[in-house]
Amino acid sequence: GVLLGGAYAVNFASVYGDRKMTNLGTLSFANKVRIPPLLEGTSDGSGGRRFTLTAQEGASELIPGKQTPTWGVNGAFLGPTLRARRGDRVSVHFTNKLPETTTMHWHGMHLPAVNDGGPHQSVVPGAVWRPEWEIVQPASTLWYHPHPHGQTADHVSRGLAGMFILDDDASDGAGLPGRYGVDDIPLILQDREFNDDGSIELRNVSTLESFAGVGNIGVLGDTILVNGTYDPYLRVTTTLVRLRLMNGSNARVFNLGFTDNREFTLVALENGLVAKPVPLRRIQLAPAERAEVVVAVEPGERTVLRSFPPDIGVGFPTKRLDGGEDTFDMIELRADKRLTESPPVPDRLRGAPAPIELPDSPRVRRFRLSGTNINGKKMDMERIDEVCPAGRVEVWEVEGNADGVHSFHIHGLSFNVLQYAGNKPAAHLVGAKDTVYVPPGDMVRLAVALPDYTDEKKPYMFHCHQLRHEDQGMMGQFTVVKPGSEGDAPRQIIAYA
Ligand code: C2O
Ligand code: CU
Repeated sequence: GVLLGGAYAVNFASVYGDRKMTNLGTLSFANKVRIPPLLEGTSDGSGGRRFTLTAQEGASELIPGKQTPTWGVNGAFLGPTLRARRGDRVSVHFTNKLPETTTMHWHGMHLPAVNDGGPHQSVVPGAVWRPEWEIVQPASTLWYHPHPHGQTADHVSRGLAGMFILDDDASDGAGLPGRYGVDDIPLILQDREFNDDGSIELRNVSTLESFAGVGNIGVLGDTILVNGTYDPYLRVTTTLVRLRLMNGSNARVFNLGFTDNREFTLVALENGLVAKPVPLRRIQLAPAERAEVVVAVEPGERTVLRSFPPDIGVGFPTKRLDGGEDTFDMIELRADKRLTESPPVPDRLRGAPAPIELPDSPRVRRFRLSGTNINGKKMDMERIDEVCPAGRVEVWEVEGNADGVHSFHIHGLSFNVLQYAGNKPAAHLVGAKDTVYVPPGDMVRLAVALPDYTDEKKPYMFHCHQLRHEDQGMMGQFTVVKPGSEGDAPRQIIAYA
């Protein structure tokens, strides 16, 4: 218990020890936040929607006056917000114009594993990858990012990430602010570490060597970027604004709230709307977690979205990740003097996914996270760790080691949190999720709704979304097969081209 807090303080102090701490803290909100362009693809008129994406190198002025070499999708840094509807048949034409092999993964998407963009779907420099799938899940805020084996932290750090918004008929009628870039705002929250020459610090993002025996979490950057904007503000023109919050950091846990402690309303988690909106003053997001919130503003006022010290472990509510001051500004909301009136947030939201129903005696699988292993093993591209029955609901118990902080993600499906560190999940954990923070020394119990797609040779991933942990091997693979045929399914992937 108490010792682990101490260990963290030491770890993070050491990680920060030789770093400048220039930018984290209070900002002046000098720059209008960039809104990623919306890309709705080209529709073929009969349900097909085609996106053309190119991963490319570029240069960006992220820090004022400095040119930073960056990677982006259809641009120099980050990528457009993709938007599709339930029922669409999506096809993507993805070109890798980078000097390295990468992949493009649709985080949170329910789709056949072969189209998932995980580490098996490598795209070499100059090559094109063309996945196609049907959108079969409820409205939600997903995202996309590369997933090359051992290189995810590096490629994401350079700038490859974007949002992927899904809509459906029910959510259209949910009564939430929904005009993209007007009262429905994507906010990709990331910390980055910059070198003096303006380049993004990449030396330690994927590897442990430099910090052997010290911190095992990865670089906690000293600079906050929101949609790639440094020191940002958001102009608000309506009485209610919906923020799609996404933690796109490699390792940092944000605990978000407003400086004036105002209430806001949680309306969605990673994989869909919540049935009953929840009033909150704080929402904690570990890497890859998302939440949608609606915030009310008064004409002419300003308020600041800030990250407060996160609760990294139950029983350690005030423990700070870095052992020091871990409170810093993210973005200022600046309301116009005249605001357009928004309709109130309904008490119940149409379009929220139904709770996952557990069968009477569900199969239970256990995953123990420790060091950078799962169940004592590191990721092996040729090993299938779990063979699961299609369409069934299972309980997955994910237990964290006492001295590690982890963010557990499962590809291709939604889960509900049944139990969090021995307790019923807090209101902000109730809903359709695809990523969950695992507190040190504690367990989260999940009701996992397995995909309907079967493929005994193409696996989905489960892994820690602390990207350094993932790159170091804290990942495993599961295939989904016809129920009853688990025993016959291969446990090895011989050729995975
Ligand atoms: Cu966000 Cu396996 O990824
Ligand atoms: Cu981890």
